[in-house]
This record gives sequence, structure tokens and C-alpha cells, in this order.
Amino acid sequence: MTSSPLYHPGMPSMPESEPPTTSERSTTVVVGAVDDIGEGEMKMVKVGERRVAVIRTASGVHAIDNACPHQGYGLVTGALDGELVTCQWHNWKFRVDTGECVMGEEDVPCHVVAIEDGTIHVTVDEPTAAEERERLWPSLRRGVEDSYVGQVARDSIRLLANDAAPEAIAWVGFEHALPREEWGIGHAMATAVDCLAWTVERDGDDRALPLVQALAALAEPTRGRPARQRRAPRAGDLVEAIEGEDHDAAMGIARRLAAEADPEEVRRRFIEAASMHHLSYGHGIIYTQKAFELLDLVGWDKADLVLHELALATTWGTREDTLPYMRKAVAEVAALDLAALATTPVNPEWNDPQLVDVLLDVDDAPIAAAVAALEAGAGVERLLDAVTIAVSRRLLRYDLDIEFDLDEGFGWLDITHGLTTARAARWAWRSHPSPATVRQALWAVWLCHDTSRGEQRHGVRPDPEIVGTPGDITGLIRRGDVDGALAAIRAAGLDASSSMIEAALADSAGSFIVTAHLIKLTKAAIEEAEATGSDLPLLAAGRYLASPRLERFVSRNVIESLDFVKTGRPPTR
Ligand code: FES
Repeated sequence: MTSSPLYHPGMPSMPESEPPTTSERSTTVVVGAVDDIGEGEMKMVKVGERRVAVIRTASGVHAIDNACPHQGYGLVTGALDGELVTCQWHNWKFRVDTGECVMGEEDVPCHVVAIEDGTIHVTVDEPTAAEERERLWPSLRRGVEDSYVGQVARDSIRLLANDAAPEAIAWVGFEHALPREEWGIGHAMATAVDCLAWTVERDGDDRALPLVQALAALAEPTRGRPARQRRAPRAGDLVEAIEGEDHDAAMGIARRLAAEADPEEVRRRFIEAASMHHLSYGHGIIYTQKAFELLDLVGWDKADLVLHELALATTWGTREDTLPYMRKAVAEVAALDLAALATTPVNPEWNDPQLVDVLLDVDDAPIAAAVAALEAGAGVERLLDAVTIAVSRRLLRYDLDIEFDLDEGFGWLDITHGLTTARAARWAWRSHPSPATVRQALWAVWLCHDTSRGEQRHGVRPDPEIVGTPGDITGLIRRGDVDGALAAIRAAGLDASSSMIEAALADSAGSFIVTAHLIKLTKAAIEEAEATGSDLPLLAAGRYLASPRLERFVSRNVIESLDFVKTGRPPTR
């Protein structure tokens, strides 16, 4: 319980006989005589810990918080016009009788005024944490709908301060975005899941940045989009519906599974569905991984919406394995006994120091070499170790001249997917070791080879020499000191993780899609460094974080489109 002396500029001090009256959450002060405030005048008083603007208009005397909810500017220094007060700093306008914001983003708290014997009494009832949360949820929803990052940040921080769970705050964004993403689950959700995972690992105010990055990732690409209607639950075979590209059936079956089936079994079926094809250039299994990681964070009771949207994304994902350039690899995979490979005993003695170099070969997709490793007892985990190390080396030796060659369609993002997909394939295998997840690991092997397209056309650069030198990793990355950042990451090893997360969250990209990849690659690289025991994934992500990047693709699209429209030639992959 707090009580503070009245602050009332321009008026005499409160007489001793009229101190503020307080109860547990309520503070009342006597402001003074009504006649001392002329119509159209505003005065600030302090009520408990709050500064309150007391405003007299034609309709009476009103009291609202003096601090503008935007950035705290004093409303009594603003302009009063009839029943509206304008904050002069950024022009937000509020009704003085209700606190409603009629121009701007957030309402201002409004307080009780009583006139007794010509004297103004203002009462501030401090809300409980629960009441404050109830007030803030609709405001956060509006902020997400409008993609107002400032409002989202303020409301998220206020909600955290009032004991709201970060998972619940993030869910406001997921609930808004999932049915609005054009093709179901996409980059926004995957990025937001990674940010939420970092949020729940933290305490206190450190949670705010990843949490708001999650909400911003969900809000920005879905702003103004209509929500999709959920399909009616129905019985059926999920994999069959997805294979038949019957998205209505797949989405309905997903809802039935969410309501009735064992979560482990549901996950197995979605992994199987994603593994049937090399889906969406590797995104299919990434989105599956992130959807189930989200459910681990927010609870299975959210599965109805999440799986409905995952079913849509999986149904309509591009089946890259149907394209001619994958024909040979697809035939090799189709001829395999995947069940036998899934159950081949792991040989602890297996060691093939050449496998990574074979995976890095630019001439041919090394499916046969991967299968030989599995048959020799490497196991799927060590095969994926080799894939991760190979893609990491490719990221480390990527020629930046390719990045800024506008006639070249290849770029950073064509390599980063190799690592995030390997991570997702490992998640799938660990979740359900099976023929389906062996196939998924082999798609990761193929994608590892496909990350060599830049090298196929422009040659292979040598692997860089990196000598460890301690340094401020986040600062070096922010300054774009690539060599310094890599030296510091090598010196720090896994201890570099927290600095790299800070760098990934620090708005160092101008476009959403690049921000999404900075976050997703950093998360996958940290996990793969732990899985492989190598610092190469960290170094690879560090190079991407610190290096110059092409972040918008308008020029490249114009060049490709001119060529296509004039000649009918499709762009070079
Ligand atoms: S501080 Fe009031 S509108 Fe910005």
C-alpha cells in the first residue's frame, strides 16, 4: 500500500487535515476546488505512485494517466480540444472521459472522479496482476493484427511484468498468424518457434527481445490477411490425403488426430508424410519439426490449429524430387531397403574420414556413399554429422562474389537450408527411427550436394584457416568483422552460443526473410555443434551473421524476368 503527497502545481499544498486516503489497492486524493480548474484546463496531480492528468471540459472533470502510453510524454503538456487531448510528441489522441485512444495504438488508463461539496476527489484503483493482464491481452492482439512492433513490445513487457507466461504471450501471435499464412506453416512460424525456445530459456527482462522477435516475425508477413476457416474434423489416412494433394481432407484428418490420437503417433504420421518427398527444398521437414517443437512449448491443446496448418503446408509443399535434376537420386533411394537400413546395427568402430569430402564433391549427389556408410554401421546420426560438417564447410568457403552477382540466382539461403534441413532430419530420426526417417536423412544428403550449385559454376574456394583469438563476438558480428568474429567463435567454442543468439536477434537484417534465416540457422548451428562436437556449424553461422548479404531480391528478379519474358528461358537454378 502506498500513499504519496499530493503534487499539484499551481495550487496550494494539501491541508494536513486532508491526507490521501488509501486502501490496499486504492488511493484517493483531494485535488482541490472545482472552481480552481477552468473549463479547458488540465492539471497534473500525483495519486499514489501515478501522475494523473485532471482535466475539466464541458462534460465535467476527468482524470487519466498523465503519461502517454506510447512513450510517456506528459499529457498535461499536450493540447486539449473539446473532449480530446492530444499528446504533442507523436500526435496520439485520447478521449478524456474514457481514455480511449482515437488516434494511435493504446488507450490511456482512466480514473474515478467524484465531486463533493465543490471539491474534486480522484481515486486510482491499482489493478491486480490478473486485471492488468485482462486489460493487456486485447491490446496485444490489436498490436499483432496491425503489426505495430512498438505496441507489441510494450504490451509484452507489461504482460511479463504481470506474470503472464511467455508461451501464452507468444501464442497470441501464433493464433493470429497460423490461419493467415498463405500456405499454412512457413518461415514466420519456424522463426517464432526458435525465438520462443530462446525466450523460455531466459529469465526476467532478458525474455523480452526473443519474445517480441517471435511476435514480430508472426505479425509482419500476415498483416491484413484474412483468416482461413478450419475444415471439419474427419477420419482418414493422413499420408494418403497428403499424397493425393487433398488438402481439405488432410486438414480435417489432422484435426481428428489432434483430438483423438496419441501425440507420439500423430508426430510419427506427420514425419512420414513429410518424408515421402524432398519437400519444399527441405522446408517440409523443418516446418514439421518446428510445429511439434511448438506444441512441446505451448501444449498439446493447441494441436488443433497447429496441425491443421501443418497439414496444409505439407500437402502443398513443392515435391522437388519430381523434378528432373533429382531423378537419379530418387531412383537410387527408391531401390533401397530402407527398413534394413533403419535397423542396421551401429558399429562404434566405424570411421570414414573421407565421407565429408565425398559429400562435398560437386559432381554427383553422393547417395551411394551415404548408403555405404549406413551399411557399414555409421548409423543415421553419424551420417548426419557428416552432412552438417560438409554444409558448414561450404558456408565457410562460400564466395561472396557470387552473392553480389545479380545475374547469379544462387545465394546464401541456398546453402543455409542444407544445415537447417540436416538438423530437422536428425530431429525426425531421433523422434522416430524408421524407414521414413532414413529416407529423410538421404534427402538431407542430396540437399548437401545441391548446396554446391554456386561452386559448380564458379569453382571451389579453399577452406579458410581460422585461428582462435578471444574477442567480443556480438560486437565483431555487428561491425561486420568476419575474420575477427570467426577467430573469437573458434576461441570460445560452444560458449559462443549466447553471443551469437544476441547477434541473430539484433535486427542486423533489413528484410524479414533474411532475419528469419539468421535466427533459424543460428539455432540449428548451436544444436548441431552440440550434436557433432565440432565448432564448424558455429563458425558457419557466424560467417553468415557477420558477412555482407543480398537482402532484397528486386534487382535479381527484374534481371531474371527480363530474360524469361524476352526469351522464354527459365532462370538458372
Ligand atoms: S509519447 Fe505520446 S504520442 Fe508518442
